[in-house]
Amino acid sequence: MSKSGDKMERLQKIIANSGYTSRRKAEELIQAGKVKVNGQIVREMGIKVSLKDIIDVDGYIIKNEEKEYYLLNKPRGIITSTQDELGRKTVTDLIATTKRIYPVGRLDYDTTGVLLLTNDGELTNLLTHPKNEIEKTYIAKVKGLVGKKQVGLLEKGVVVDGVKTSKAKVRVKKYDKKTDTSLVELMIHEGKNHQVKKMFEAIGYTVLKLRRDQFCFLRVDDLKSGDYRKLSPKEIKKLYFEATKNDN
Ligand code: URA
Repeated sequence: MSKSGDKMERLQKIIANSGYTSRRKAEELIQAGKVKVNGQIVREMGIKVSLKDIIDVDGYIIKNEEKEYYLLNKPRGIITSTQDELGRKTVTDLIATTKRIYPVGRLDYDTTGVLLLTNDGELTNLLTHPKNEIEKTYIAKVKGLVGKKQVGLLEKGVVVDGVKTSKAKVRVKKYDKKTDTSLVELMIHEGKNHQVKKMFEAIGYTVLKLRRDQFCFLRVDDLKSGDYRKLSPKEIKKLYFEATKNDN
């Protein structure tokens, strides 16, 4: 569809990499006849195009936008989404940009801590794909005493929504006798919905508070709740490296 010299990629990949939507959703849009290339509806899957072509997805023109990468210390009481049907504040409202950025993965409304936001769809796909096993560290405050037995269960994997979770690294940091609560650190590489809360639920514990302490190598120790900063080029490069190091 395009002249030589431009980077040719599959149509659904270019749409996904633009950050407009996921690759799967892009395929659905193509099949539904919602995508035009240079003014013509394309339903054929996998045709190769470049950003020199005019790609129109349901009225939105895909552009080769400059990529932006933000690290946010997510506060409690904000949803991890780009919009909310109830009009509640979302994490993207906290960041001053004109770009269509979105969060990389999800944190619950009441979860705080490390959250990456970007308009780089390629990096998002790499960081969220389970095969790339990006490690996340959570600190959970749970009701009750978490002992060796429970740590062993969590480490080996528990059944969540009918599927056994992968091996985790778990450490009890503190037990407060007065409040009967334990502070537990969990390192996991999966990212299912409400994963940490459900892992504790599976062994009969309730999570009272949850914070993501680390995502890959990124931490927010230098950021106040609600504050953010741009990632450095070195950090972006390292994220690509970490997300592709298991390839081959
Ligand atoms: N696990 C949860 O239960 N909630 C989160 O927000 C993140 C991981």
